[in-house]
Amino acid sequence: DENTRKMKHFFRYKGVVLPQFTENIVHKFENFEVRPDDVWVVSFPRSGTTWTQEIVYLINSNMDIEKAKTVSIDDRFPYLEYLTPGLDAISNLPSPRLIKTHLPLKLLPKDINKAKVIYVARNPKDTAVSYYHFCKLLKTFTGEFDFFLNGICSMVAACAGFWNIKDDPNVLFITYEDMCEDMEGNIRKIADFLGKTLSDKDVKYIEHHCSFDNMKNNAQVNYEWMRHLGVWDNKDKDNSHIRKGKIGEWRLYFNKETNYQINRMVAHKLNASGLTFKYDK
Ligand code: A3P
Repeated sequence: DENTRKMKHFFRYKGVVLPQFTENIVHKFENFEVRPDDVWVVSFPRSGTTWTQEIVYLINSNMDIEKAKTVSIDDRFPYLEYLTPGLDAISNLPSPRLIKTHLPLKLLPKDINKAKVIYVARNPKDTAVSYYHFCKLLKTFTGEFDFFLNGICSMVAACAGFWNIKDDPNVLFITYEDMCEDMEGNIRKIADFLGKTLSDKDVKYIEHHCSFDNMKNNAQVNYEWMRHLGVWDNKDKDNSHIRKGKIGEWRLYFNKETNYQINRMVAHKLNASGLTFKYDK
């Protein structure tokens, strides 16, 4: 149907490639009303967004485990640009709102600095591999992996954009790799940032609930409802939204030449920003 088609296509807006389903609302993001008690999780797709959202959800809801287990992450933590519930519905949600977005800084609401913003970054090579598999799941992509290398450029630019504002008091910049290596530390960092106090037992619970295996087996965060919508390629049983959860899988995909080109591009984009990525465990 029309919505399925829109999920599979992209268009360009102010130099940013966006999914077609945002075409009717893209001009509204800039003036979207931001509230001081909003928490926004911002990322490039496939960077550990859902993982971060689930951690933020448990912390911000004062450990509403029951709701986490019974309501989908999209309903608890809506995706700003997505078709459902839609921008108007998100505008009208009661406080405190939790909002996910994949928009780069230049397309975010002009008042975004009123809210608390957590930016999640992941090394561009693993992000590209993860995105490649996700597009296959969505049946959007049937070409070669090299196509995705072009997409890496915009993701590196997006990370660098947020890295530049990482010291703002309303911004927390975290990385996928750091979460893999020290989930507990990141849970505590996020709780501090949100001004919430967690007991040691809460921290342990979040760590357990948000482990890779538990997230993968949890239908509320593994987007199981997408399977039933017929949007996914259900033939590939090994592929799912929460898929491998590894650092360094890119080594199986990149030949020497491609790797060289990416390293050059990343060095050029990041230049003097001070941001570095971790590519291996
Ligand atoms: P892979 O495809 O490399 O496995 P996003 O939510 O931004 O779309 O990110 C999805 C990526 O995060 C997927 O990467 C997914 O497996 C990984 N992920 C999700 N939950 C995770 C967890 N608890 N631990 C490690 N990786 C996780």
